[in-house]
Amino acid sequence: METIVTTSRQQTLLVADAIEHVVSAMPTPCIGVSTGSTPLPIYAELVRRHLDEGLSFANAHLFMLDEYLGLPEGHPQAYRTFLDEHLVGHLDIRAERLHGPNVHARDIPAECAAYERTIESLGGIDLQVLGIGADGHIGFNEPGSSLGSSTRIKTLAELTIADNARFFTDAESVPRHVVTQGIATIRRARHVILIATGAAKAAAIAAACEGPVTTTCPASALQFHPHTTVIVDEEAGANLRFSSYYKATFDNKPTWQRI
Ligand code: PGA
Repeated sequence: METIVTTSRQQTLLVADAIEHVVSAMPTPCIGVSTGSTPLPIYAELVRRHLDEGLSFANAHLFMLDEYLGLPEGHPQAYRTFLDEHLVGHLDIRAERLHGPNVHARDIPAECAAYERTIESLGGIDLQVLGIGADGHIGFNEPGSSLGSSTRIKTLAELTIADNARFFTDAESVPRHVVTQGIATIRRARHVILIATGAAKAAAIAAACEGPVTTTCPASALQFHPHTTVIVDEEAGANLRFSSYYKATFDNKPTWQRI
C-alpha cells in the first residue's frame, strides 16, 4: 500500500487528479464511486473541473459500490439518488452509465450476479474510490465478511446503523439490509484509493494498513491488492506507526502508475 497522510484539501485534489487522469487517458474509463460524506469534496471538485475546465465524463462508466435495500426508488438517502445529486446529475454522462444492481428487482441474488457480469463485460474497474467505516468495513462488507466475497446481500452492523442514522430521521429508519460489491469484487479493481478523514477513522486506518489481514477488519484485505493508495488526513492517519507513509505535498505527488 502506498499511504499518504496529508490535508483534507490535498486529499481532495489528489483523488480528483487520479480520477481526471483515468477519465482523460482511457477510451472507456470505468470508475467505482462510493457514497458517504468523505468523497463529497472530491465530487464537488470533479463537477467544478467539468464546468470550469471541460473535463468530460461522456465516455466513462461509473459503478456503485453499494446500495440500501428496501428504500423506495428516488428516496433521498438511496445511494443512486445521492450519486445523482452530488455527481452524475452535474456531469456530461448519461444516467444509464451509472451502473448498480437493481435493488427493486424480485430476484436480488440474480441482480448481484448480473452486476458482476456487467463490470466484467465493460472491462473491469480501472479506479475504485473507497471510504472506510469506523469498524473497518469497505463498501458494506462488515467485519466477518468473506475476503473472497462477490456482490451480495448483507446485514448492516449496529455501528454502521448508528453511524448512518445521521442521514435519516433516526436509527430505526436506517435500512438493515444492503447490497454491496464483495471484497473480491473490490480487489479486482486495477487501482483502489482508500480515503478517510477525522479521528473517528484513525483506529480503522491503522488496522487496515498495519494490522493483520483479517475479516474483522475487511479493509485489511487491501494489503493483498497490488495497487492500493491510502490517502488520509492527519487525524485519520494519527495511529499509523510505521514510516511507510509520507506527508504529500504538491512537489511530492504520487504518479498513479500501475504496478
Ligand atoms: P463516511 O462513510 O464517508 O460517511 O464516513 C464511509 C463508509 O462508511 O464507508
